Amino acid sequence: MLAIDLTGKRALVAGVADDAGFGFAIAKALAEAGASICLGSWPPALNIFETLLERGKLDASLTLSRGGKLAFERIYPLDAAFDTLEDAPAELRESKRYRERGDFSIRGMADRLRQDFGDQGLDIVVHSLANGPEVKRALLDTSRKGYLEAVSVSAYSNLALVRELAPLMRAGGAFLSLTYLASERVIPGYGGGMSSAKAALESDTRTLAWDAGRRFGVRVNTISAGPLASRAASAIGLIERMVQYVKANAPLPRDFEAMDVGHAAAFLVSPLAAGITGTVVYVDNGFHSMGMAVQGPGTVGGAESGST
Ligand SMILES: NC(=O)c1ccc[n+]([C@@H]2O[C@H](COP(=O)([O-])OP(=O)(O)OC[C@H]3O[C@@H](n4cnc5c(N)ncnc54)[C@H](O)[C@@H]3O)[C@@H](O)[C@H]2O)c1
Repeated sequence: MLAIDLTGKRALVAGVADDAGFGFAIAKALAEAGASICLGSWPPALNIFETLLERGKLDASLTLSRGGKLAFERIYPLDAAFDTLEDAPAELRESKRYRERGDFSIRGMADRLRQDFGDQGLDIVVHSLANGPEVKRALLDTSRKGYLEAVSVSAYSNLALVRELAPLMRAGGAFLSLTYLASERVIPGYGGGMSSAKAALESDTRTLAWDAGRRFGVRVNTISAGPLASRAASAIGLIERMVQYVKANAPLPRDFEAMDVGHAAAFLVSPLAAGITGTVVYVDNGFHSMGMAVQGPGTVGGAESGST
């Protein structure tokens, strides 16, 4: 039987601080396929995440289908806005949530991975993080600072992860990130330069696939995911409407789940996808292919009944 087998592989999933988002679903799917999992978590969210783990509040989500519980090999502090610790302002470094964490920069995490697992200790890297401080503002009203922050944290950070971690990858290594349709179609409400950041992320996926493919032999892909009411997406404000709209108008009127992305991710980073790189893969019940809304379930094309 053809199966996704990640036994003996180590993954680093950057952007997990609860069990509600894509990063967690991907981590779980990779673990189901046999990989060991390290996380990179944002210091402001890390305390709460560690407490939830310690108190067993995430045990149900962590339970694996083969029995037992997903245990993270390491959880590294990571603020993807900074390439080196020196790049972080002193005020932030000294602040409550950061000062006890050591080097939380991207290079700092790479150094720790090297210390913990040697020069070639990594097979899979997932970038599942984004932040746009002005996401609720229309692009037209976005400040230069807000725009650059969105692009820095949500797109440049992926490039920096590839640069710092590709040298640690074993043969067959794979990078994966998460993008959104707003990069190529207008999604009113997804503002603050986040649409620009996703466009950059997708373009970089192609160019990084070339650069890092030729230099390190690794693959670089991105998944364009449908809307999910994660913690980050709930901050945008209209996520429930987006979820309903996609369900009413996508070719597949089924509920879209984080694990749909988890499973697709497990395939994309596995040896089964050895020939796939530089690609945007849509995991959204097919919504991206639509050119016309049905304006509510059932009115055109029978979205509810499935009739044509
Ligand atoms: N939820 C959706 O509808 C949707 C749709 C398509 C794509 N995506 C993308 O999926 C990815 C994961 O998001 P999610 O929706 O699952 O939410 P999430 O809340 O699970 O993940 C976002 C993570 O980013 C982390 N983060 C924020 N700023 C950071 C920083 N400076 N350094 C390190 N980590 C930081 C947060 O702590 C959080 O853990 C993002 O790239 C997002 O844009 C989400």
